[in-house]
Amino acid sequence: MMDISVVNKLYRAELPGRELLECEINSKGEVSFKAVASKDTLKILRSLKNQAVQDWSMPQGNSSSEILVRELIQKVRGTWFFPIEDPELCHCRKVSATKIDQAIVSGAHTIEKIRRITSANTACGGCQDDIEKLLKFRLSC
Ligand code: FES
Repeated sequence: MMDISVVNKLYRAELPGRELLECEINSKGEVSFKAVASKDTLKILRSLKNQAVQDWSMPQGNSSSEILVRELIQKVRGTWFFPIEDPELCHCRKVSATKIDQAIVSGAHTIEKIRRITSANTACGGCQDDIEKLLKFRLSC
């Protein structure tokens, strides 16, 4: 007896407590989205519906919606590579890369704002290069 299993692929982008986007692709290549998200995010996701994955246009702005949809598209296409390996980005203040990343997605687009919101980079300054790397990675221009 042959085992024929159908494997759907599930991709996710999330801003905890605010937005959760899921894209599922079934074995026939059919795409479906599920989202608990803002109107702006839902509008972008709707624009991707009925298009082939390779035809999706990457959102160009830096709103939370655009950043999250960009992440989701990169994950679907296999081009998502989070640039920070160490889970704790700021060792002096014990601030995780995830916390700083979420601050950026939420709108902290400068080192000053990240310092204010997370307390990262407020001691030795040794984490500044990694924070800048994360800003460059997340922001489209
Ligand atoms: S490692 Fe972030 S301030 Fe020292």
